Amino acid sequence: MSITPEVLRQDILLNLRTATKKRKSPWKTPVVSTMGLDNTPKARVVVLRRASNDVLELHTDIRSEKWAELTKHQHIAWTFWDRSRQIQLRVSGCVVLHQNDALAQDNWNRLGEGSRKTYRVEPAPATPIATPESYSYRGDGYRYFGVVRCHFDWMDWLHLTRDGHKRAIFTRDANKWTGSYVSP
Ligand SMILES: Cc1cc2nc3c(=O)[nH]c(=O)nc-3n(C[C@H](O)[C@H](O)[C@H](O)COP(=O)(O)O)c2cc1C
Repeated sequence: MSITPEVLRQDILLNLRTATKKRKSPWKTPVVSTMGLDNTPKARVVVLRRASNDVLELHTDIRSEKWAELTKHQHIAWTFWDRSRQIQLRVSGCVVLHQNDALAQDNWNRLGEGSRKTYRVEPAPATPIATPESYSYRGDGYRYFGVVRCHFDWMDWLHLTRDGHKRAIFTRDANKWTGSYVSP
């Protein structure tokens, strides 16, 4: 007996929300993929900062490559892997970039000093330096702080089990989510 796709979707959302709060949650650090400025795929690990019915958020330095990529191509894909539960979740959608606005300020206010410090790094991320230590922290990190807010409209859930894999795909049209189990 399987739960309905809608009950499954609610469970997925619960797990995403939990991941934003629990440091050790496997879904806390998804891989996020973007279209590179050279039109090749780019992927990297990030921290999931917020999750709701159709929004996922991450924080980043606006000097980073991904910020420039997302300014040009708004599509983004997230890949979550829970090794202990053997569940992969893929999510995709379009982003809105927030910098120096009410949403960015609210996110910044909730960050600890340790997280804020990373935005004070000089020179900018990916600038060649003479030794691995040839960088410093200066100024106020907020000017380089950005929030990537993804409005997602597609989810692909895959559960690996010994008795046979299970997979479901969900799509959103306006505010309405539709989900269906599919062949794995
Ligand atoms: C566990 C972990 C968490 C990370 N979290 C973030 C993050 O939340 N935001 C971010 O911009 N980079 C994060 N990074 C660094 C990125 O993976 C990446 O190296 C960096 O952002 C540069 O990527 P880009 O050149 O594609 O912009 C994290 C790396 C690791 C290993």
